[in-house]
Amino acid sequence: MSTIFAFALGCGTKNRDDNWLEVFYPDPYLNPDPKLIEVVREEVGYQGGNAALELTHRQVQHLAREWREAGFEHEASYAVAFQESERPVVLTILETDAEPASTPEAYLKLHLLSHRLVKPHGVVLSGIFPLLPNVAWTNEGAVDLEELPERQLLARLNGKLLEVNSVDKFPKMTDYVVPTGVRIADTARVRLGAYVGEGTTIMHEGFINFNAGTEGPGMIEGRISAGVFVGKGSDIGGGASTMGTLSGGGNIVISLGEGCLLGANAGTGIPLGDRCTIEAGLYITSGTKVEVLDENGDVVDTVKARDLAGKSDLLFRRNSESGAVQCRTNKSAIALNEELHKHN
Ligand SMILES: CC(C)(COP(=O)(O)OP(=O)(O)OC[C@H]1O[C@@H](n2cnc3c(N)ncnc32)[C@H](O)[C@@H]1OP(=O)(O)O)[C@@H](O)C(=O)NCCC(=O)NCCS
Repeated sequence: MSTIFAFALGCGTKNRDDNWLEVFYPDPYLNPDPKLIEVVREEVGYQGGNAALELTHRQVQHLAREWREAGFEHEASYAVAFQESERPVVLTILETDAEPASTPEAYLKLHLLSHRLVKPHGVVLSGIFPLLPNVAWTNEGAVDLEELPERQLLARLNGKLLEVNSVDKFPKMTDYVVPTGVRIADTARVRLGAYVGEGTTIMHEGFINFNAGTEGPGMIEGRISAGVFVGKGSDIGGGASTMGTLSGGGNIVISLGEGCLLGANAGTGIPLGDRCTIEAGLYITSGTKVEVLDENGDVVDTVKARDLAGKSDLLFRRNSESGAVQCRTNKSAIALNEELHKHN
């Protein structure tokens, strides 16, 4: 019996042309018991490999029965819930972590991240953009953009308002999963596919893209770009920025270690080690020339910031008299404010 990388049962939305707009998986599995698939292989017409199989109500009923008989009570109870679904039901099976090939597969991978089953960079996401249609995310769920004017009119004619909350390829994470032990002041600012670690607080200015996130605990008041991972006990100050790799030429994957402080309106284009601080308002890019100071504050070297990438216990600041960017040992690495950072 072959191993399975991931699988999930979900339901979603399709447009009039029968194309998927989005899929919701309440309980995705990583490395599930292969028997789960084996017992239903014939029932759902699974031929192996990676597949998204749309199921009829009858197939879902059989799935529930056969899983129950095979002792998979938990999975069977989800199948029972989907028996009456008004929305199309899909069983998505990923035998391997290959590039996603369909919208349901792409959504499963985003769910694996937000359910904390894999960390950022822990799953292959290349080629995902064309698989995620640009959708109007409304108070009535996902709506195809071509169908939107009609739906808006219909709502008005019924004395209602169809509220469009965003027009985007990614929905907000919290409409799919709210991971335990987090505070998110403005849920629209965290996309599905974000990994939000236990004990993370995201204030209104905070943002987390897909395939990015926090180990937790931590305070996020700035932007965590796609691909960026922030270590335990680190603080991203108000309006601070972590440089992404999706546009503009940045190709170094940024991460912050544990106990770092990115000051308000600061930014980093290099990965930081543990206990590093960047002064409020200072943006370090990989080519920034940095004066390295010794214990006495004397300049001992001038390097490019990228040469300091990943090193621990560094304090970066712009000398307000000379204008030079300087780096010295960080003597007072931050201790997170316990009161502020409590998540409940
Ligand atoms: C970089 C930073 C951590 C330095 O803080 P610090 O280590 O406590 O340093 P201090 O402010 O006590 O200053 C120590 C000395 O360095 C000097 N100094 C500080 N910043 C300087 C600068 N940019 N250029 C020149 N001198 C500077 C101070 O004047 C002081 O001089 P003194 O010894 O003659 O009195 C702090 O300025 C900072 O930016 N913190 C970020 C806070 C933040 O944004 N939090 C997030 C909120 S949302």
